[in-house]
Amino acid sequence: MFFKKKKLAADRKVPTHIAIVMDGNGRWAKKRGLPRTAGHKVGAETFRTIANYAKSIGLKYLTVYTFSTENWKRSDEEVNAIMELLEKYLREIIRDMDKNQVRFCFFGDMSRLSPQLQEEARIASEESAKYSGVQVNFCLNYGGRAEILRAAQSFARECMDGTRKPEELTEEAFSDLMYSAGVPDPELIIRPGGEKRTSNFLLWQSAYAEYYFTDVLWPDFGPEELEKAIASYSGRNRRFGGAE
Ligand code: IPE
Ligand code: IPE
Ligand code: MG
Repeated sequence: MFFKKKKLAADRKVPTHIAIVMDGNGRWAKKRGLPRTAGHKVGAETFRTIANYAKSIGLKYLTVYTFSTENWKRSDEEVNAIMELLEKYLREIIRDMDKNQVRFCFFGDMSRLSPQLQEEARIASEESAKYSGVQVNFCLNYGGRAEILRAAQSFARECMDGTRKPEELTEEAFSDLMYSAGVPDPELIIRPGGEKRTSNFLLWQSAYAEYYFTDVLWPDFGPEELEKAIASYSGRNRRFGGAE
């Protein structure tokens, strides 16, 4: 059994970029008779474990859906608790940066977040830019449609002021206007929590991503679950529209 496990691990293809919809915190808490915020707290710890594990297996990019443009619909109490958790988490990231050697980036409209959160995100991304370990992209107040609109508006503005022409808008040029500019598209997108939808996550970048869905709730998602997703991905035949 042990041998089989090791062999499987050696055969697998670790993608360059994995993206995760960290879903299921609320249901995890509800199942235990706890407030939803307790699920978010444990979910943050799960993220820490997965990020460390991702680094240990040589993943280059890990993008996580942390808070969507739609999540503002939740109660003030829940939104505030999530924001407080994020503030605390970012403070810890800044404190432990040298030890972890992880690069942090933020995708999303940060202007709606508290000044403190914005400042912490700025420090975390600027000061971690020098590290060469895994790059973690936090999607915060992020929506795939909002990201595409923002890119389109920015290109339209450049056309209006005469610095660019409409026919210069290639797929590559448009990709460079996304929050993810310079980051290769994710090969694998994982959604724990049982739902089988994208919920507005990486709409542009996911064109040829492989999806992996599992009923496991995010707070229960450990390295073993990540390995299951990688094993599933490894066995797939990616044709990109071509033929065998
Ligand atoms: C994901 O877990 C965390 C955020 C969206 C912020 P949920 O809070 O959506 O958990 P469920 O889906 O209600 O279980
Ligand atoms: C997606 O989860 C957003 C994050 C995990 C941050 P949601 O819980 O918001 O998605 P829906 O509402 O089930 O589509
Ligand atoms: Mg959810």
